[in-house]
Amino acid sequence: MDSASFKSALACFASGVTVVTAPGNGAGPIGITVSSFCSVSLEPPLVLVCLDNGTGAIEQFADPDAAFAINVLAENQSSLSNDFAGPQTYDMHGHAHDVGASGVPCLAGVAAVLDCRLHAVHDGGDHRIVVGRVVDLRVDRDKRPLVYFHSSYHRLGDRH
Ligand SMILES: Cc1cc2nc3c(=O)[nH]c(=O)nc-3n(C[C@H](O)[C@H](O)[C@H](O)COP(=O)(O)O)c2cc1C
Repeated sequence: MDSASFKSALACFASGVTVVTAPGNGAGPIGITVSSFCSVSLEPPLVLVCLDNGTGAIEQFADPDAAFAINVLAENQSSLSNDFAGPQTYDMHGHAHDVGASGVPCLAGVAAVLDCRLHAVHDGGDHRIVVGRVVDLRVDRDKRPLVYFHSSYHRLGDRH
């Protein structure tokens, strides 16, 4: 199996798109586009994202007390996804945001925000599996999600 066929198989799995935001280490809030978001546990409420070992954003998760937010993008936010998809472009200046319950920056206009405290970081090959415990959330049920499929953005189709 070569990596191109591995990637093309993974691209068949449609996902939503999130931007993971964090307070930053002194230089202001940061965000990184992440589609590898997954629910893990209901009790306690846990979710995960997988982050490339090489991303500059990884240092946000070195502190065991780290806090971060998972912003679930709405269907009209593909440009926001591109803005935080690097390389080395994590800066949230110029992007409307407020501050969540645990002091974490949260993007405006998203479908949902999950405000998390770091629960665990696991080895995941060339990525790290970052598990967050959800301490607060906001949902806008009027927003439909941005969908990522076959390496491009889509809107949801009709309901079955
Ligand atoms: C739709 C989409 C989904 C992405 N999902 C992930 C992901 O789950 N994990 C990850 O580490 N990078 C993901 N990326 C790539 C990062 O956003 C990108 O590599 C990073 O912002 C580039 O920063 P760097 O200079 O730190 O590598 C995704 C990019 C896009 C456009």
